[in-house]
Amino acid sequence: MTASNETAEGVSRLRPRRSCLAVPGSNPRFLEKAQGLAADQVFLDLEDACAPGVKEKARHMIVDALNTGDWSGKTRVVRVNDWTTHWTYRDVVTVVEGAGANLDCIMLPKVQDAAQVQALDLMLTQIEKTMGFEVGRIGIEAQIENAKGLVNVDEIAAASPRIETIIFGPADFMASINMKSLVVGEQPPGYGADAYHYILMRILMAARTHDVQAIDGPYLQVRNPEGFREVAGRAAALGFDGKWVLHPDQVAIANELFSPSQEDFDHAEMILDAYEWCTSEAGGFKGSAMLGDEMIDEASRKMALVISGKGRAAGMQRTTTFTPPQS
Ligand code: GLV
Ligand code: MG
Repeated sequence: MTASNETAEGVSRLRPRRSCLAVPGSNPRFLEKAQGLAADQVFLDLEDACAPGVKEKARHMIVDALNTGDWSGKTRVVRVNDWTTHWTYRDVVTVVEGAGANLDCIMLPKVQDAAQVQALDLMLTQIEKTMGFEVGRIGIEAQIENAKGLVNVDEIAAASPRIETIIFGPADFMASINMKSLVVGEQPPGYGADAYHYILMRILMAARTHDVQAIDGPYLQVRNPEGFREVAGRAAALGFDGKWVLHPDQVAIANELFSPSQEDFDHAEMILDAYEWCTSEAGGFKGSAMLGDEMIDEASRKMALVISGKGRAAGMQRTTTFTPPQS
C-alpha cells in the first residue's frame, strides 16, 4: 500500500508560509542576515520599515539582494508602498523589471478594494510581457489594514488569480478603527475578550472561500517570545497558515506552531491510507472504515488532507505505516 499523494484542493499549489520574515529593504545587514534564517518566506520591505528619504535607494538594494543573494528554500516577496502614496508604481517597475525572475510575489499594503489589486495585476502583466517573463507567475499578497479593507475582503480575495495570501495588519488596523491600545498584537485593556477574533475569522473565511492563504501580521514585542507564542498559537488554532516574524527568535516558534505535530501528521497520513484502502476494490469499495477505534469517512479524509498538506509542505516525514486489516 503506498501513501496517497493527494492533497486538499489547492493546498498543493500553496507555498509554505509558516514564518514570514520582515526585512527592511534599506538595511544591508538585515538583507544579508535574513538569507541565513529558517523562515519560509522573506519580504523585503519598501513600505513602513523604510524611511521616505531612503525608499528610492532601497528599491535598488532590494533588486541587488534578490539577484545576488542566496534565498534558496524561501518564498521571495517585496512589499511595495500602498496606492494612496506616489511611490507604488515606481516600486513595482523598478523591483519587477530589475529582479522579476528572482521574485515570487508583490505584497500590497492597506488594500481597500478589488480595484487596487487589479491595478497591480495589470502593471505586473505589462512588465512581465515587456521583460519576457512568464505572464501571471508573480503572485500578489494583500494586506488588510483598515475597516474598508475588511468590509471588502471577499472581493479582494477574489480580485485576481494572482492573489496568494490575505494578511492581517494589526498595527495599521488598530489605528484605523481607533482601538484603545498601543501594544500591537496584544489585547486592548478593558474589553475582557479577544478583540481580534472577528477580524481574524473574517479574513480566514474570505481566504478559505477563495482558496488562498490566511496570514497573521506582526507581534511587535520582539523580546517577549512567550507573548509571541500565545498570539501566534491563537491564529494557528483558528486555521491560519502562518504569521509574520520580526526577530530570529520568532522564526522557530512560528514554524513549530503552524506545522502539525508529528502525532497529528502521522494520524492524518494513516487516515488517508485507510480511506483509500476501504474505498478501493481490495477494501470492498466501502465508504467508511475503522482505523483502530475510530470510524473514518469522506469528511475525515478532508480534515486529514489539510493536516497532511501542511505537514508535507513543511517537509515532514511520516513515522507510521498503514497495514490493511486481514479479512
Ligand atoms: C503591518 O503592516 C501592520 O500594520 O500591522
Ligand atoms: Mg501596516
